[in-house]
Amino acid sequence: MYKIAFLPGDGIGPEVANEGLKVIRATAEKTGFDYETIPYDFGGERYLEKGGDPLPDSALSEFKEMDAIYLGAVGHPDVPPGVLEHGILLKLRFALDLYINLRPIKLYPGVWTPIKDKGPEDIDFVVVRENTEDLYAGMGGFFKKGTPDEVAIQQSINTRKGVERCIRFAYELTMQRKRKKLTLCDKANVLTYAHDLWRRVFNEVGNEYPDVQKDFAFVDATTMWMVKNPEWFDVIVTCNMFGDIITDLGAMIQGGMGIAASGNINPQSVSMFEPIHGSAPKYKGKNIANPLAAICAAGMMLDYLGEKKASELIDNAVSKALSSGKIKDLSAGNMGMTTSEVGDFVVSLL
Ligand code: IPM
Ligand code: MN
Repeated sequence: MYKIAFLPGDGIGPEVANEGLKVIRATAEKTGFDYETIPYDFGGERYLEKGGDPLPDSALSEFKEMDAIYLGAVGHPDVPPGVLEHGILLKLRFALDLYINLRPIKLYPGVWTPIKDKGPEDIDFVVVRENTEDLYAGMGGFFKKGTPDEVAIQQSINTRKGVERCIRFAYELTMQRKRKKLTLCDKANVLTYAHDLWRRVFNEVGNEYPDVQKDFAFVDATTMWMVKNPEWFDVIVTCNMFGDIITDLGAMIQGGMGIAASGNINPQSVSMFEPIHGSAPKYKGKNIANPLAAICAAGMMLDYLGEKKASELIDNAVSKALSSGKIKDLSAGNMGMTTSEVGDFVVSLL
């Protein structure tokens, strides 16, 4: 019996995450696993009403006893920027040590990509983004703030342990894929300390994986190749900041935010799954947001829980739904179907 914390969040979060739950429910019936969802109302709405800590430590202790966390989206127009990002999303990543951010970039058949002459056989890779260090560590500060002599420092933290466990995860993942190619995306030509460490660890750990084809790409060149030759990539491993940036580009070449899913993973402990998109307040309550990213995140969660058959079912159903031509467009309001109709359609194809 899996225990899943359910955090629908704000804006379109509840609408899309409910479709994800619908798909999980139908999949469970077909493949026969048991689960329980425990709902939490963390998000902007609750924060505006009750104030205080957007995500109290007591909730974190509860999450630690669970198998997974399924999140819709957090973000509210009336909450100052940063409060919910730091207070909920980044807090979950740091406090639960979710050190991998896994982001598949997969173009499903029938989905439009802005990249000319490229199809599903060209765009099918995974980004392994380090998720707890780098510029996100919150190290730094101000000196003489607000004066003409002000200095602002934000440091990139890269620990041997943090880099190694991320790179090791990427090698293990690469071994499970057909092509077995791993690219380190860095900026070792300029970040001569931080990314010297990444290169050394990449090479050292790589000695244990002779079957993996290793490659290097500077982050600026990576963005270029992702557009020009996306077929070069199988698995990309990269630091937190670069991973954040290149996966938005990745989301666009796979058809947009409507389909981009992610897992915030601690392989030894509870992990969190979410669509990459935000809460899109302007679409809230209209039943027009695309639930496919949330549904794909649900599929990733079941894969992480060990329900391979269930996650394959979901992936196949999403693929069929998209290649049917019945979903006109992946963006909100243009699908030719409502949010719940897309969820029902995927369920019908399981
Ligand atoms: C993401 C988001 C977050 C990040 C923000 C909301 C803090 O952009 O998940 O990619 O920068 O990691
Ligand atoms: Mn981002």
